[in-house]
Amino acid sequence: MVERSISFHHQGEEYQTWYKVAGNPSSRTRTPLVVAHGGPGLSHNYLLPLSSLATKFSIPVIFYDQIGNSRSTHLPSKPSSLWTIDLFFDELVDLLKHFHIQSEFDLLSHSWGGILGLEFEVCRQPERLRHLVLTNSSADTRMWNASTGELSKAFPDDVQKGLAVGVTDMEAYGKALRMFHKKQGCLVDPWPEELVYSMNQSISPSADISVAVGMIINRLDRIRAPIFDSVFEPFFRGIRQVKWVTMEKSSHTPMWEERERYMDLVNGFLSM
Ligand SMILES: *[C@@H]1O[C@H](CO)[C@@H](O)[C@H](O)[C@H]1NC(C)=O
Ligand SMILES: *[C@@H]1O[C@H](CO)[C@@H](O)[C@H](O)[C@H]1NC(C)=O
Ligand SMILES: *[C@@H]1O[C@H](CO)[C@@H](O)[C@H](O)[C@H]1NC(C)=O
Repeated sequence: MVERSISFHHQGEEYQTWYKVAGNPSSRTRTPLVVAHGGPGLSHNYLLPLSSLATKFSIPVIFYDQIGNSRSTHLPSKPSSLWTIDLFFDELVDLLKHFHIQSEFDLLSHSWGGILGLEFEVCRQPERLRHLVLTNSSADTRMWNASTGELSKAFPDDVQKGLAVGVTDMEAYGKALRMFHKKQGCLVDPWPEELVYSMNQSISPSADISVAVGMIINRLDRIRAPIFDSVFEPFFRGIRQVKWVTMEKSSHTPMWEERERYMDLVNGFLSM
């Protein structure tokens, strides 16, 4: 797999985006697929099983670490106002331009990445986005709000307490969040190394949490019901072709939990 960094531009500043590619995006046997990871604050690693779409179905797959995460530019000293969804749109656009695929591409987005993907579609209206795959996205704000949300009530007291302290105590919070995600994030036991790495990016004591905190401050209220109900729902209804799949044996990471079925479903959808 080829990997490197490219620059992108946002409001007059230049940043670096790190990417990794499976397959060859310029051989157009299949439309290239760009993969947007979750968090905000994780990294591409836990989505690497998707590289089998390249080996098995010849779909070129482009992974990247979103700005502020893992191998891309970190900006811990910037004010939280930097972390707008437009920043992530600009990064995505420059990535598409780099591969010359604005004229034809698919997007697969997981969790927070799905909000990014949907809003990208609504706000920027990319003409040549052929398919948008959303995996575990509508529940995303529930995950973010896990500290006080209903899901956490099913957990023991110490987990609930750890979730409640939030990022003010990364050690306790990280520990509780891991327990939470063992049930609500990924049921594969032990967790795959790639997932552990991605989780480390956002919940280890040394993690750079500026993206997650910035996005929560700037967006949590706006992403909730108003956007999903009044913008996305009619949007969903207006889509000519939409396919909804439930994966019964999965929690939040079906690309690990029901790996083969997930790949087959994605391949089938992208072939439509
Ligand atoms: C988060 O959870 C609390 C308590 O469960 C609730 O009052 C609040 O509305 C939730 N916020 C979001 C953004 O879902
Ligand atoms: C994740 O973080 C833990 C604790 O900081 C560390 O021991 C472990 O090696 C890390 N794992 C990966 C895959 O990055
Ligand atoms: C994620 O998606 C799976 C499969 O559709 C579903 O069973 C699960 O409830 C979802 N969970 C979360 C936390 O988003």
